[in-house]
Amino acid sequence: MAQDIVIAPSVLSANFARLGAECDDVLLAGADMIHLDVMDNHYVPNLTVGPMVCQALRDHGVEAPIDVHLMVEPVDAAIEAFAAAGASIISIHPEATRHLDRSLQLIRDLGCKAGLVLNPGTPVSVAKQVLSRLDLLLIMSVNPGFGGQAFIPYSLDKLREARTLIDEAGLPVRLEVDGGVKVHNISEVARAGADTFVVGSAIFGAPDYREVIERLRESAGQP
Ligand code: DX5
Ligand code: ZN
Repeated sequence: MAQDIVIAPSVLSANFARLGAECDDVLLAGADMIHLDVMDNHYVPNLTVGPMVCQALRDHGVEAPIDVHLMVEPVDAAIEAFAAAGASIISIHPEATRHLDRSLQLIRDLGCKAGLVLNPGTPVSVAKQVLSRLDLLLIMSVNPGFGGQAFIPYSLDKLREARTLIDEAGLPVRLEVDGGVKVHNISEVARAGADTFVVGSAIFGAPDYREVIERLRESAGQP
């Protein structure tokens, strides 16, 4: 069974010149955690932020969980740096490490929750073997690298498959979805089994963060 709904704004679409205030604003508006997209211009064709920015958000006073999505290759050094910089959850792509099991163990050894991220073209079966190492399984519903892309429809089948995998294993693994999630499709995405929703442009592009977060939560099935 899916757990309580978590709304995680992706600050990729925030105003980076006032990042701390943007985080305060979405958290005050009802968001559950901050999703930080880390891109290295190598694993993905875009370049964003490093651990200093994660630490700066903690120093600014962000107490909510920070959900770090590492699109970085190789990934182990970045895991260590982000764990030291205050990350709560660290999620990695299987293609970005030579030794997936070892990298996932490293995340937990450093006291963080471990996530595995599956690109649109990566099958759900990749998660099967390492499921007991995971606190979170993230299904990408766009190709990683940019905010504001359209939701890939077959991600719904992958979410259903991932939900079955998690439920049959009976493990408390959250099922997260990232990319193209909006008010108009979140209910379908929730029905496919997601319980944790990364939302970038649909939140930061809206004039009223509270209103859009309430509508997202309501449409996802939790008034
Ligand atoms: C893409 C990132 C996403 C992205 C989501 O690589 O992982 O977190 O920012 O943005 P939207 O919600 O605009 O698709
Ligand atoms: Zn992301």
